[in-house]
Amino acid sequence: MRFITISLAAAAVSALLLGGVEAESCDAAQCVFPACVCPSADPPKGMDPKTVPQFFTLTFDDAIQAQTVPVAAKLMENHRNPNGCPIKATWFTQTLYSDYSLIQQWHAAGNEVAGHTMNHIGIPPAEEITGNRMSINAFAGVPFAKLNGFRAPFLNYSKATFDILAQEKFLYDSSVSALPTTAFWPYTLDYGLANDCWNGICEQGVKLPGMWEIPMHAIMDGSTPPKPYSMDPQLAGTSAQVAQWLKDNFNTHYTGKRSPFGIYLHPIQVGESVSMFKEFFNWAGAQKDVWFVTNQQMLEWMKNPVPASQLADQPYMKCNQPAVGKEICNGLDDTKAGSIDKGILEVCNFASGPWSTCYGCPKAEPSVTTPVPERVVAAGQTGYRTPVPANCAMEWWDPVAAQCLCASSNCTFTDISVKPTGTPSGSSPSPSSTGGAKPDTKPSGAAAQFSTATWANAGLIVVAAAVGLVQML
Ligand SMILES: *[C@@H]1O[C@H](CO)[C@@H](O)[C@H](O)[C@H]1NC(C)=O
Ligand SMILES: *[C@@H]1O[C@H](CO)[C@@H](O)[C@H](O)[C@H]1NC(C)=O
Ligand SMILES: [Zn+2]
Repeated sequence: MRFITISLAAAAVSALLLGGVEAESCDAAQCVFPACVCPSADPPKGMDPKTVPQFFTLTFDDAIQAQTVPVAAKLMENHRNPNGCPIKATWFTQTLYSDYSLIQQWHAAGNEVAGHTMNHIGIPPAEEITGNRMSINAFAGVPFAKLNGFRAPFLNYSKATFDILAQEKFLYDSSVSALPTTAFWPYTLDYGLANDCWNGICEQGVKLPGMWEIPMHAIMDGSTPPKPYSMDPQLAGTSAQVAQWLKDNFNTHYTGKRSPFGIYLHPIQVGESVSMFKEFFNWAGAQKDVWFVTNQQMLEWMKNPVPASQLADQPYMKCNQPAVGKEICNGLDDTKAGSIDKGILEVCNFASGPWSTCYGCPKAEPSVTTPVPERVVAAGQTGYRTPVPANCAMEWWDPVAAQCLCASSNCTFTDISVKPTGTPSGSSPSPSSTGGAKPDTKPSGAAAQFSTATWANAGLIVVAAAVGLVQML
């Protein structure tokens, strides 16, 4: 585990804390909603902050593997949105050390998989970014259309990084930090970056029409002047101190302009802070109109913002579960047997560790030169796993039988969301208290499967520099 403390010269810090000037280069007359959205502390379309949802984005970074998935599952279990759906999160996924079957299960459970390079490289060459996406698509079945967000490893990016993302048609980046003075809602990059301007990239003309930036809202601590933490705030103080910072920072958003609030974690670093975070999620989720969302869900709202009172009706907030009816290799517990893809995964052995896949082991480990190596069992041979074709959803595709179980319009989904009752329901109600008539409010897939945690051994201590952003892997 590596830590990077970016110490900033005093002058840079005061510029940072004043901030905001770059946002003015966005010409509101030219930047027309929804194709273009200027950086702004205010909600889109002049909406009254009191009427908009308070979005809460929980994100994880790095490998999706047996050691990290239980931490995320534990943090998320039992937490519900006001419509009764299990909360969703975004995982910025490096492929090195990831288990592709666990990536698939994370996605199948309704969470978001986003890019984080193959080998966790700062200022990555294009192949690191494209290879990450190609190998996740091939061996975890996540469609390219759903794999369209990116966070730079170490939050270390350059103008070139943005150009690669634009060329590869990514929907958004989320690598920049926002301080209270630059606590912008998500914005498009038509007029450039308006966060992290201390690093000089704002002036370099990152002008990428239509590509979104989702700032990472720093947690400010209790010191004078406050110090910002962009990731893993639990490492910066005692549990009681950090819990208070989280509440204070949340309230700044919630009682202010309601720009999205976020908690950005490395599961491997969470350690004994699970209960502190869970209590905080309960507390935040119990406030009216607070919704935990993936970055993709949040951008759906940004493109067509509705009052919080209408959010439960939006298709992207539902929690539909496909009713496939028989166990196929699709990342889901199709038969509600308490296991996912049991006995039908292929186990692939490589130097970096074994991993599993529904889609056939490759002859070599995916790499930047060959992100999708040939399969051990080739097309036409017995045992070939057929990739998900463009006309079938991953959830309905049986790669063993090469069959789409949703060939007709009779595919059924079970919507396990409930109408908001008018009272806040984010505070981890038991299944029986959320839905009444709805019998099955258990989260599907990975979250249910992984609730028995094996804990990653963290126990590292960070001493924050006097002034700086503490970042890690
Ligand atoms: C950013 O990444 C580049 C390329 O990997 C590296 O040379 C540089 O030291 C990194 N900077 C920081 C602050 O991590
Ligand atoms: C429903 O879909 C399945 C799978 O494509 C198909 O075999 C079946 O005939 C369909 N039933 C109806 C009533 O359309
Ligand atoms: Zn990382």
